[in-house]
Amino acid sequence: MSQKNSDMPETQGEIGNNSGITWQEQVGLSAKTPIGLFGIGLTTVCFTLTVLGLLGHVTGLIENHYAAIVTFLVFPAGMIFGLLLIPLAYLMRRKKWFKHSLTSQNVTIDFSQSRHRKGVILFLVLSLVNLVVFSFVIYEAYHFTESDFFCGAVCHTVMDPEYTAYQRSSHAKVGCVSCHIGSGAEWYVKAKLSGLRQVKAAIDGSYSRPIPAPVEHLRPAQDTCEQCHWPEKFHGKKIKQFVSYTNDDQENPEIQDIVLHIGGRNPLTDTFEGIHWHVSSDVKVEYESLDETRTSIGRIKVTKPSGVTEEYSIDNGDSAEGGETQWRTMDCVDCHNRPTHVYDDLEEKIDFGLYSRKLDQQIPGLREDSLTVLQKEYTSRQEAQEQIVESLLSLQAERNGADYVAENEQKIISSGRYLLEAYLGNVWPKMKVTWGTYKGHNGHQNEDDGYGCFRCHDEEHSTEFGKTISQSCDLCHEEPE
Ligand code: HEC
Ligand code: HEC
Ligand code: HEC
Ligand code: HEC
Ligand code: HEC
Repeated sequence: MSQKNSDMPETQGEIGNNSGITWQEQVGLSAKTPIGLFGIGLTTVCFTLTVLGLLGHVTGLIENHYAAIVTFLVFPAGMIFGLLLIPLAYLMRRKKWFKHSLTSQNVTIDFSQSRHRKGVILFLVLSLVNLVVFSFVIYEAYHFTESDFFCGAVCHTVMDPEYTAYQRSSHAKVGCVSCHIGSGAEWYVKAKLSGLRQVKAAIDGSYSRPIPAPVEHLRPAQDTCEQCHWPEKFHGKKIKQFVSYTNDDQENPEIQDIVLHIGGRNPLTDTFEGIHWHVSSDVKVEYESLDETRTSIGRIKVTKPSGVTEEYSIDNGDSAEGGETQWRTMDCVDCHNRPTHVYDDLEEKIDFGLYSRKLDQQIPGLREDSLTVLQKEYTSRQEAQEQIVESLLSLQAERNGADYVAENEQKIISSGRYLLEAYLGNVWPKMKVTWGTYKGHNGHQNEDDGYGCFRCHDEEHSTEFGKTISQSCDLCHEEPE
């Protein structure tokens, strides 16, 4: 061994002439080049940081989500990159230094030499440690990529609307993945593949703005909603109160109590009835959507417990001209399409403000000015933040005079703040998400745009015997006064 050591060339000049060194020494020498040294350094540093990050994460000492991104993505990537630099350094030097030195005889591992033994053991031990650390990283990274934080915040701009709307919904504690991604390997691969596409889209900016609804591949409702809510459970009625004002009278609301027949199994007759009849276990309602947004509905098929099927269609029957039609079995999401990503209706939000006194009813013309301020287009959320309160003040100055504004400045400002909050909860200019971008199907407020119950309950879809799907007001709720 000592003999070999003395053979070992010390400088590049000598290496060039030397052809007797072994491959192990070549590897060792390559490691000592700038690239090799950098690789070793990078690997060591990233490795240490990954291990520390992992420890912090597993013990709960580090809870910062961004630290998780660094621990599971950045450091391991650095580690792999560093490791790859070592063979690269070897390859780069090989031509220059060792072109003639490798022969089949000296590429051997000789266990009788302690140097070789040590080298091999070191290699195996380091590989094992790497393997263990990497398994941990992969395991933790898997869980991390399933977290709501990852879904909602990593692609921050893209998902900000959905994440914000989600956080204020009844489902803020239900994981994104429990509605969007099924369990099991097949879904995981599906989700991660489309995830990769989405990450690419997020990087090169090719994603759609706004992100289109409905989501094609939502998990079936039996696997999601029905884990927590089940159709059997619905019964009786639910009273919902609707409060509205007009620009002419922003002090006296019109209040309507709508008594909804939410239905379910009637304990007396043991049959399903009411609104949740569509999803009861013994009927199947299928429909053919004529467009991607499911706002235009062609034929509708109802399969009853007896096995009898009824089919409704529109008389002049232009079922899906040319284009492909999609049959879909009705489930929760066909009515509750916004159970989680809840956006407000502009007027409802303003009327709620007036009703809850967050908008001061005493300020003359406030309802109208609020509509103007919120309907105005701002180029960014930042700009809205700077302008909303100011523009309310100036609209009020035009309407009520500068003296009025000076006297009531605080009141107007605090109403302005409510408007700003409303704006920030609903509008994202960058994502082209604004008031009314995402509409709900669960009623008939947006019927003009093709949303809601009246897609089918239109008295126009009929069976061959002329039976239609009823729009009579007391079918779904008691007749409003
Ligand atoms: C309780 C179930 C549920 C949960 C939890 C949930 N979503 Fe959704 N999500 C839906 C449904 C249903 C739609 C389809 C909306 C439609 O068809 O109009 C949807 C639609 C979307 C869309 C398409 C754009 C849109 O608003 O329609 C995105 C993006 C999205 N969700 C992201 C997320 C993210 C990110 C999370 C977690 C922060 C999450 N979702 C949590 C049910 C859920
Ligand atoms: C992990 C359990 C869970 C899942 C999955 C779930 N929900 Fe919920 N849901 C809840 C809880 C908890 C509430 C809140 C009840 C309350 O506020 O009284 C709720 C409330 C609701 C409400 C009434 C409140 C509101 O926001 O209007 C509706 C409607 C609803 N969920 C529909 C759905 C639909 C549709 C799905 C599937 C896309 C779904 N849920 C999936 C647990 C769940
Ligand atoms: C035909 C449309 C329709 C379908 C399909 C539908 N719902 Fe509903 N659901 C409604 C309406 C309308 C209401 C009452 C209005 C409201 O609560 O916003 C309601 C109310 C609810 C509520 C609140 C009940 C309460 O007492 O507050 C829950 C939870 C719910 N639905 C869950 C589901 C689930 C889960 C499914 C699928 C198995 C489903 N719905 C299918 C229309 C529907
Ligand atoms: C995809 C088509 C479709 C949509 C959308 C739809 N319905 Fe229906 N609905 C039907 C059909 C079909 C029937 C059965 C008509 C019959 O047999 O007379 C029905 C029946 C009903 C019934 C009577 C159930 C009974 O037998 O007691 C109620 C109540 C009802 N729907 C409420 C709603 C409400 C509320 C919405 C919107 C939130 C809605 N429907 C949306 C197709 C639809
Ligand atoms: C197919 C079922 C269905 C039919 C038929 C129906 N409604 Fe409704 N209606 C609903 C549902 C569901 C809601 C609750 C919407 C919500 O929760 O936001 C509602 C809410 C309302 C509201 C309060 C919301 C608003 O827009 O101010 C009024 C008013 C109303 N309905 C009037 C009527 C009248 C009038 C008729 C008869 C022409 C009628 N409805 C027929 C399902 C129906």
